[in-house]
Amino acid sequence: MNKSSDLRIACVMVGLPARGKTYIAYKVSRYLAWLGIKTQIFSVGNYRRKLVGLNLPHAFFDSHNTEGVKKRREAAACALNDMITWFEKDDGTVGIFDATNSSKKTRAWINETLAARNIQVLFIESVCDDDDIILCNIKDVKLSSPDYSERDPDEATEDFMKRIKHYEETYETVTEENLTYIKLVNVGSQYIINMIRGYLESRIVYYLMNLHTRPKRIWFSRHGESLFNLEDKIGGDAGLSPRGEQYALKLPELVRQNIGDRPLTVWTSSMTRTIQTARHLDFPKKQWKALDELDTGVCDGMTYDEIEAKYPDDFARRDEDKFNYRYRGGESYRDLVLRLEPVIMDLERHENILIISHQATIRCMYAYFMGLSHEQLPYARIPLHTIIELKPKAFSCEEKLYHIDVGSVDTYRPKGQTARKLKDDKLVSNIPVSSEGASGEIVDSNNAPILPIKSIGIARTNTC
Ligand code: ATP
Ligand code: F6P
Repeated sequence: MNKSSDLRIACVMVGLPARGKTYIAYKVSRYLAWLGIKTQIFSVGNYRRKLVGLNLPHAFFDSHNTEGVKKRREAAACALNDMITWFEKDDGTVGIFDATNSSKKTRAWINETLAARNIQVLFIESVCDDDDIILCNIKDVKLSSPDYSERDPDEATEDFMKRIKHYEETYETVTEENLTYIKLVNVGSQYIINMIRGYLESRIVYYLMNLHTRPKRIWFSRHGESLFNLEDKIGGDAGLSPRGEQYALKLPELVRQNIGDRPLTVWTSSMTRTIQTARHLDFPKKQWKALDELDTGVCDGMTYDEIEAKYPDDFARRDEDKFNYRYRGGESYRDLVLRLEPVIMDLERHENILIISHQATIRCMYAYFMGLSHEQLPYARIPLHTIIELKPKAFSCEEKLYHIDVGSVDTYRPKGQTARKLKDDKLVSNIPVSSEGASGEIVDSNNAPILPIKSIGIARTNTC
């Protein structure tokens, strides 16, 4: 999505401590960055820590502590100024101002300051009065915050509860009719929306309405090796090779071992190779056209060698900027991200989904969860005959790979080269910097073995 010349939106978080403001800010920022919208978070907490240091006692946040109030205002003013500079000098599109912003007076100041600079303001308030959720949030993220480094957990929890009490004394929920806002009540049980205008604001609001915090896992698998994969051809609608068929046959067992008794829904693309891969799985299935592989236009059915010979300029341009390169008569990765946006929305709403799709489509969805940049995304390693399990956490995403011991070709094409094709029957790993370990087994960059293992998850380093 390209920036329309003067569109600038400030998302201003509102709410008591431990209400998920930073979590929401982080999710929105990752979603917008994935779509290609220039977004940055300005965390007042970070400015405050720089100004007055770490490990501050709850009394610092008491509204009667004049020095504390002064320093917190100073930190907020600094962060707001930096956000304005970022909009004006760095051409930012969405700035996220993360602080409690819990009084009408503060919100009026922010709104007036930004409106005077032609920056639209969207207040995002998280309200939560469920004590169990708040305690969970404190344990989940606050105890590991730099504010409490090396503090006893019980003591830190007690101090944080007292900090919340100080904020409660002056907190006013958003009711100002002149402000644009969305209020999320008790993690999605109610939404209150006021004066939302424009496409991008509506997209953000719609995205927020799809978020939930229930623990979830998502599993991705490419289709089994296809007949086109064997010939190094891209695109097409080929069926599975004999080894691809073996993968499809072994998939139910691997799924049972790793997914257990959880209810599961399987999403496939509308292409033969993913439908064939899923056909032995006894779970509800849904076909999405949006999950179809990148459309390679006039290059459909060709090998990378043939493309390089017939369209050398295109081949070179794709290597220069793989994310933005659009195949003649086909798609780019940027197009694919937009096509997959409804799938991401649905993934946010659901738990326990296994997606059987393709190299490029899985790269896009994987990049959303793992926070890969547009430069990294088209080169992510998504091996054949492997399940990738993602477990989103508050501010990161855990990843494990489960390999099935059925060999396959390697369809990964490093920048500047034509396809690397391995035809032996050994498992081929696409993990970055794979090499032989001391005992001859295939290892990843952390020297962890990548063997034909069933049901043992291998974590690879992620960029979260
Ligand atoms: P602080 O003001 O101290 O910075 P915060 O409001 O930014 O606190 P977070 O640090 O974002 O709170 O808290 C993260 C926790 O909030 C996570 O455990 C996450 O699951 C949870 N969470 C996410 N969304 C919500 C929500 N809408 N309501 C309550 N909790 C939420
Ligand atoms: O080679 C398998 C395949 O799924 C092709 O159909 C598709 O064009 C390609 O991978 C996408 O990978 P890349 O963007 O690295 O060429």
